[in-house]
Amino acid sequence: MSPNEPETPSIDLMKEIVSLAKQRGFVFQSSEIYGGLKSAYDYGPLGAELKRNIMNEWWRSMVYEREDVVGMDASIIMHSKVWEASGHLAGFSDPLVDCRNCKERFRADKAPRAQPGSTVTSVEGGRRGGKTLTGTVDPRGYVCPHCGSSDLSAERNFNLMFRTNIGPVDVVQDVVDAIHGKDLSKEEMRAAIDAKVRETAVYLRPETAQAMFVQFLNVQQSMSMKIPFGIAQMGKSFRNEITVEHFIFRSCEFEQMEMEFFVEPGTQKKWLDYWKEERMGWYRRFVNSPEKLRLRRHEDNERAHYADDCYDVEYEYPWGWGELEGIASRTDYDLSKHAKHSGSHINILDPNRPDPATGKPPYRFTPYVIEPAAGATRATLMFLLDAFRIEDKPRPNAKGEVETRRVLKLHPRLAPYKAAILPLVKKDGMPELGRKIVRQFLDAGINVRFDEQHSIGKRYARHDEIGTPYCITVDGDSVKDGVVTIRDRDTTEQVKVKIDEAFAVVKERVFGHR
Ligand code: GAP
Repeated sequence: MSPNEPETPSIDLMKEIVSLAKQRGFVFQSSEIYGGLKSAYDYGPLGAELKRNIMNEWWRSMVYEREDVVGMDASIIMHSKVWEASGHLAGFSDPLVDCRNCKERFRADKAPRAQPGSTVTSVEGGRRGGKTLTGTVDPRGYVCPHCGSSDLSAERNFNLMFRTNIGPVDVVQDVVDAIHGKDLSKEEMRAAIDAKVRETAVYLRPETAQAMFVQFLNVQQSMSMKIPFGIAQMGKSFRNEITVEHFIFRSCEFEQMEMEFFVEPGTQKKWLDYWKEERMGWYRRFVNSPEKLRLRRHEDNERAHYADDCYDVEYEYPWGWGELEGIASRTDYDLSKHAKHSGSHINILDPNRPDPATGKPPYRFTPYVIEPAAGATRATLMFLLDAFRIEDKPRPNAKGEVETRRVLKLHPRLAPYKAAILPLVKKDGMPELGRKIVRQFLDAGINVRFDEQHSIGKRYARHDEIGTPYCITVDGDSVKDGVVTIRDRDTTEQVKVKIDEAFAVVKERVFGHR
């Protein structure tokens, strides 16, 4: 924000964003008319545009502007062996416990320890001002991390991956056939059912990354790529998250933008530094408040088992600093695991390079991987938060009145509409002239909006609130002498330009710079 920019009064930013998202068609609760589906969201007309623009800009910088990265688009449903090899089948199945007092769910292995048999206190319902409750810690030896209660459900295994079955045959019938009439204990029955379900089980991917490892050789060979090179992919991922929170920050279905950059072993630190800078630079280009972005190195104990180093790009959300993107040095873990589990030789042979171990060519190695892994849906929330302002501005009159406006200062490239074309009134040739300008934009594939409803002031306000960077107003003068007004969303300044130039001027302002 520039020092001269009007202050945003203190507000509940998340509440404002959730309400604006619904009212203006960015994000709706999934299945809302049936009571809503927790943690699933639908992107409305403007949200779909914003998210698409973010993803297009990511693809542009990761693929189109580079010679060393190619894209791919893999299936969401993947073979269960992929997830066995990657460790997700084991790692994504955690024992979870429900707190009967505050109703939160948590991982048993991460809960605060307490002496079995000791007395603990908590507040009823976990709410401030509630009655104080006392309880005794059971032999499991932990309490609820949210409210401290010892009133806990049994541990249950939750598979954080979405499992489904492939094939039209009803798996329930198979299961019934497998156990019907057999005298089985509870454990035996569970094992029999599990074995039957697993025969046709497939999983929705919990990250887009694995397809790029599994298809590494196909991509490398078909495109004759030379190390170092990257494979980029964007798309949906699914996780049965233990806690879904903060609107679209963490949901069960979300979109990722990931790139696996394959490098020679030993060069991973250099490339990790390179991608840290690249990715921070990308975010900084598009935000108003770069001071709300930071890079944080993972502590040894929080790094994933496959990473030898990892950084998070963090954003200062209204509830504090949190992850926006992870940039991991993933070693050769994934390629080696897939090579082992599939029996394929997933490596690179350089006939001219000496092997560092023997000093003689050829050099055969499994590439190391640097992975910038971003969330498209999470980035959508971040860009909305970064862009939102409520501004008090003096009205241009002598009465000292103040005008309040809500504005989304989205980067023009991210904004859903690049311009709104507004005839001052619905007569005297103004709509026709306006539609001619609209046609120029639409023919060039640029999304603009023709808007003739309500007063011009209301229309400016509406487009400020949805982030339209420019309003082109067609008035009586436009019909007479061919001049229109272009209003800038951020400064509210207006300039007059010839009708024939309006398209080129706006196009240059939106797309003329990176
Ligand atoms: N391939 C590595 C990987 O998936 P991650 O940190 O689990 O790493 C990468 O995910 C990014 O995906 C996160 O930084 C976040 O932006 C996004 N993400 C992960 N889980 C999410 C969820 N449940 N809802 C929304 N975005 C999520």
